[in-house]
Amino acid sequence: MRKALILNGPNLNLLGTRQPEVYGSTTLKMVEDLCLTHGRSIGFEVSCFQSNHEGELIDAIHTAKGAQDGIVLNAGAYTHTSIALMDAIASVGLPVIEVHLSNIHAREEFRRTSYISKVAVGMICGFGAQGYVLALDALAAHLNGGGPA
Ligand code: DQA
Repeated sequence: MRKALILNGPNLNLLGTRQPEVYGSTTLKMVEDLCLTHGRSIGFEVSCFQSNHEGELIDAIHTAKGAQDGIVLNAGAYTHTSIALMDAIASVGLPVIEVHLSNIHAREEFRRTSYISKVAVGMICGFGAQGYVLALDALAAHLNGGGPA
């Protein structure tokens, strides 16, 4: 069975109560359960990790090398700032699908820059918790050889 890591960054532990008008009322536990269930249905053994610390996210990406087939990453605000996370992804060579609950292009200007997008296979945003399901489908398609037509 293929393996996928669902990696969530800062403040995403507060999902459900954090600005529900922006991020919805789904908790991180619900998102992770959704990923475990959907992942299994499409052939992934899913593991989940969340951290508010940049270094721990980098460590998780390093540890994923050789242990995971791909990563679904919501780096939270580090998306817009972290060259270190971008470098970590480039260093391990694993396919990363970037996901955001909100449509980062319809918000403040500073959210339109993503260092993650520079090294990700692709990015899904604006679909709330469902975005993680779409990201797992996208990872499966990518691993099955899908690409730009
Ligand atoms: C987010 C968007 C980021 O801009 C923000 O800092 C987050 C959450 C999202 O899922 O929409 O923490 O990644």
